[in-house]
Amino acid sequence: MNRYDGVKVLLTGAASGIGRATAIRLTTEGAAVYAVDLSAEGLAETAAAVTGPGTLATRTVDVTDEPAVIAAVAAAAETLGGIDVLVNVAGVHKTTPIETLTVADLNRLFSVNLVGTALFCREALKHLPDGTGVIVNTASLSATQGSPFMTAYSASKGAVLAFSLSLAAELTARRIRVVPVSPGAVDTPLTRNPGIFPAGLDLGYFSKIRSYFGAADPEMIAAAIAFAGSSDAAYFTGADFRVDGGAHT
Ligand SMILES: NC(=O)c1ccc[n+]([C@@H]2O[C@H](COP(=O)([O-])OP(=O)(O)OC[C@H]3O[C@@H](n4cnc5c(N)ncnc54)[C@H](O)[C@@H]3O)[C@@H](O)[C@H]2O)c1
Repeated sequence: MNRYDGVKVLLTGAASGIGRATAIRLTTEGAAVYAVDLSAEGLAETAAAVTGPGTLATRTVDVTDEPAVIAAVAAAAETLGGIDVLVNVAGVHKTTPIETLTVADLNRLFSVNLVGTALFCREALKHLPDGTGVIVNTASLSATQGSPFMTAYSASKGAVLAFSLSLAAELTARRIRVVPVSPGAVDTPLTRNPGIFPAGLDLGYFSKIRSYFGAADPEMIAAAIAFAGSSDAAYFTGADFRVDGGAHT
């Protein structure tokens, strides 16, 4: 008996990093996954890595494109025969000192990280079943912990966290759970090319957001997402689920 047997999952950001690890983890546990991302090439690599017993369908979507999101969620519901769990993982990052922060950076971070997440929630809620539906949104340790040179990214993730907490409260009448998952540092392409840091950076700045366990592997976050989306987490809703190796302590 697999934990996700018969469970239909819509997953964003599945072409890389945490999203890919989540696609592999959920299909390994039996889920039927409809995976979306901007990168067709990355989605193909994810599909090639999936071995079942669950299934994976893919679609190229920009999560900031409202008509495309509306169409993708409708297609996911039709392909899967409904949606039980929505997992929002798609996201972008950029570090920059405040002196070089641009409106373009702010708009991009908020539009992918917050607006994309919100659009998928709104559309998926047309299909998620009352009583058992679940939304898992990827926030970040940066949402609640000062993270130098990440003001815009942190603010966008703080917005994802606040959005998720309020949505959880709003959905109590439908008994749909909303779980924001907040990873600390994870070894993925996102953290390998972060953006701009000041010259002569003092790494001591990062001591508050570094775990003594080192950076997580994406599979560690996928395991937490799989738990949050499953019936094992039936009493988890409306609280930040930190998966940060104790970095906040
Ligand atoms: N890596 C970390 O240390 C870390 C820490 C905390 C939170 N997170 C969050 O976890 C999530 C996944 O990050 P990751 O580390 O796996 O990064 P990643 O770069 O490996 O994967 C992000 C995925 O999102 C997709 N994406 C970006 N913009 C998109 C758009 N407009 N439409 C559709 N897809 C889009 C990318 O194509 C990519 O496949 C992000 O939301 C990130 O903010 C990551």
